Amino acid sequence: MLEGKKIVIGVTGGIAAYKTVTLVSRLVQAKAQVRVIMTEAATKLVSPLLFKEISGGPVACDMWCGNQEFNVEHVALGRWCDLMVVAPATANIIGKMANGIADDLLSTTLMACDKPKIICPAMNTNMLNNPAVMRNLETLSQDGISIMPSAAGHLACGVNGSGRLPEPEDIKEYIDHFFARHEGDLAGLKLLVTAGGTREAIDPVRFIGNRSSGKMGYAIARDAACRGADVVLVSGPVALEPPPCVRVIPVESTQEMLDACLAVYPDVDAVIKAAAVADYKPHHAAEQKIKKNEESLTLTLDKNPDILKLLGERKTHQFLVGFAAETQHLVENAAAKVRKKNLDMIVANDVTVKGAGFSTDTNIVKFLFPDGSIREPGLLTKEEVGNLILDIVKEHFRK
Ligand code: PMT
Repeated sequence: MLEGKKIVIGVTGGIAAYKTVTLVSRLVQAKAQVRVIMTEAATKLVSPLLFKEISGGPVACDMWCGNQEFNVEHVALGRWCDLMVVAPATANIIGKMANGIADDLLSTTLMACDKPKIICPAMNTNMLNNPAVMRNLETLSQDGISIMPSAAGHLACGVNGSGRLPEPEDIKEYIDHFFARHEGDLAGLKLLVTAGGTREAIDPVRFIGNRSSGKMGYAIARDAACRGADVVLVSGPVALEPPPCVRVIPVESTQEMLDACLAVYPDVDAVIKAAAVADYKPHHAAEQKIKKNEESLTLTLDKNPDILKLLGERKTHQFLVGFAAETQHLVENAAAKVRKKNLDMIVANDVTVKGAGFSTDTNIVKFLFPDGSIREPGLLTKEEVGNLILDIVKEHFRK
């Protein structure tokens, strides 16, 4: 998405300005054309020469220096670019942007520019939580400016808290997704993806679970966001990083997954249900840890709701993709699920086959459709499987 894009990076006087050097380098490596504008405060922290070398273009710092790249620099840069990004964005520039103040090259360019803008606030936690800054951020959000949430962690002032500039790679991803949202082949589609396994409590320390790592569902969510879809990922407990630019709703039990799915279901175009859902739960979850006094322990299990079946019953316009994890009679069992759950497609995997199913980075799947047709793409990475599923979803909405 970044190749050939013209991006103006505004650098303000936050300690994290040094990270913006790496961001510019990453964007240039991705073949974007980058121009840098620095405020006077930013030049006290990082040399404009460094940005010049890394960006491969002149760095604009001053409205009055006379040796600018363009005639009427602040208007020309705003006209030249596809996107303006301010990173780090201090409380000062946020205040100026929200209140229409243009008193230096960056603030003037921001005002003259009618292209999309992203800001990456970075400051001390108390400053970030200051009512004036929060009010200004709200104003900017209402003005249509994208605000990348700041990260939490160690801050230059010595405290731990929110207000860190996100890592350059994450900002690059955010910019990439920003373009994907407008130009990706799935732009405009809203997807619900589920991933991981649900857990049913036996007592406060034990649960009934399964072997799902979440890799399959997370790969689909990542693919979909990279292609511009608006993705909600309802995830059971997993040890994976949340994919960038995806709204993750963490859940634990099947009932929680059902509630989360039903809440977003009316608004989504398609559902891809890769989660491994616990079909049964203990009739009674003990309040205290069960002691091992007896030789045997009998658990009575109650049937959980079938989330996908319920979604199938309530389907209005949504394209429903289920998964089938089977250990035998793959095609027959999966085909029965297509009918029973009113699906538009099922992704069947035999989880006993090497390279397929739980925890692997690859999968071997068959796509089954309601008309009885079957496609067998063979051994693929989970990312590749995700992209093939998304191609089919896209085809459906293109018809
Ligand atoms: O997470 P990984 O480690 O990467 O592993 C990937 C996977 C093996 C979990 C994935 O490829 C997969 O097969 N997911 C579906 C697992 C499963 O629960 O299959 P099932 O045949 O039991 O269920 C059929 C479909 O109904 C699934 O889409 C499931 O999400 C859904 N279901 C099942 C039971 C239930 N109570 N509610 C449901 O919604």
